[in-house]
Amino acid sequence: MTTTVITGIAELTTNTDLGTLHDAALVIDGEHIAWVGPASSAPAADTHHDAGGRAALPGWVDSHTHLVFAGDRTAEFAARMAGKPYTAGGIATTVTATRAATDAELAAVLRRHVAEALAQGTTCMETKTGYGLTTADELRSARIAAAEVDEVTFLGAHLVPPGADPDAYVALVISEMLPAVAPHVRWADVFCETGAFDADQSRAVLTAAASHGLGLRVHGNQLGPGPGVAIAVETGAASVDHCTYLSKSDVDALAGSTTVATLLPACDLSTRHPLPDARTLLDAGASVALASNCNPGSSYTTSMAYCVATAVLQMRMSVEEAVRAATLTAAQSLRRTDVGWLGVGARADIHVLDAPSITHLAYRPGVPLTRSVWRRGRSTTS
Ligand code: NIG
Repeated sequence: MTTTVITGIAELTTNTDLGTLHDAALVIDGEHIAWVGPASSAPAADTHHDAGGRAALPGWVDSHTHLVFAGDRTAEFAARMAGKPYTAGGIATTVTATRAATDAELAAVLRRHVAEALAQGTTCMETKTGYGLTTADELRSARIAAAEVDEVTFLGAHLVPPGADPDAYVALVISEMLPAVAPHVRWADVFCETGAFDADQSRAVLTAAASHGLGLRVHGNQLGPGPGVAIAVETGAASVDHCTYLSKSDVDALAGSTTVATLLPACDLSTRHPLPDARTLLDAGASVALASNCNPGSSYTTSMAYCVATAVLQMRMSVEEAVRAATLTAAQSLRRTDVGWLGVGARADIHVLDAPSITHLAYRPGVPLTRSVWRRGRSTTS
């Protein structure tokens, strides 16, 4: 196995007990990190890379995307910017286009966005089904996703397809879609929101998903207050995503649970909703992750750096909190222990910035700061 030593790291965010190291080095052995420490005592390796006085951090872990889709919703976005409110009804537009696309077309769109994200430092990605909404279309979405990303989530309960009876659709999700799709995915999700699935329907989908051995995720409290967070905590979901409208009891429930609150600030900006109250969640002791929610409707960005900058500039998170939320805590929301940190044994997913410190992620918002990326120990940029 080839070893590589990276020296010249001005600031190394490890997300381990080592904290942040200055003038550091690390050694990659195959797909993993084999050594981390001061540059002055770095061991020799087969190859050497000089980071040139730049900052290095774990690759971004994007724990919430919807990238198995076809079609375009530019007009919907433009109308929104002109004052029309976001409604999840736009999902149906993407469902129509996705059903009409070939497997090759869907895979090409997915690959393009995965590559775009990787070029910006995202080395571990989750993506969801949810634009098929028939058993066959959900199944092919799951298969296509499983070939391209680290984590796949079944989101058959994304929207009741236009014209379908809501309870009959939930019954179809439970009795037909879940058994067909479960072998291809690790997670199941439900959009618990007025206009999507109510509390009883959401609980039914999540309980059935758990009986198939799937981990649980919930879209909750996105467009208004609701039961999503409470149901996520009650069912032991790994993550509840959005959390834009939280009550005090939602915050307390999250703080007393292992459910991660995954915040999606790019979505709130794009849909003209308030940004989530990250500070209250963190101060209460809840685990907070950040993700892009990249999808063609509510949040069409793959940029985790944009989410981090927004979290710092507008959500009162420190740079350290935001970076941790987009790496280690996001990995925890996926119940992964191999990514989101840089220490001996971790997957060698490394993001070198074209900057001397992570502070620049917020200090220089909008500037492309990715200098180089290693994923599974392989350089993706040289
Ligand atoms: O997370 N909330 C539900 N699903 C997506 C939106 C999908 C869409 O509008 O196409 C979200 O924002």
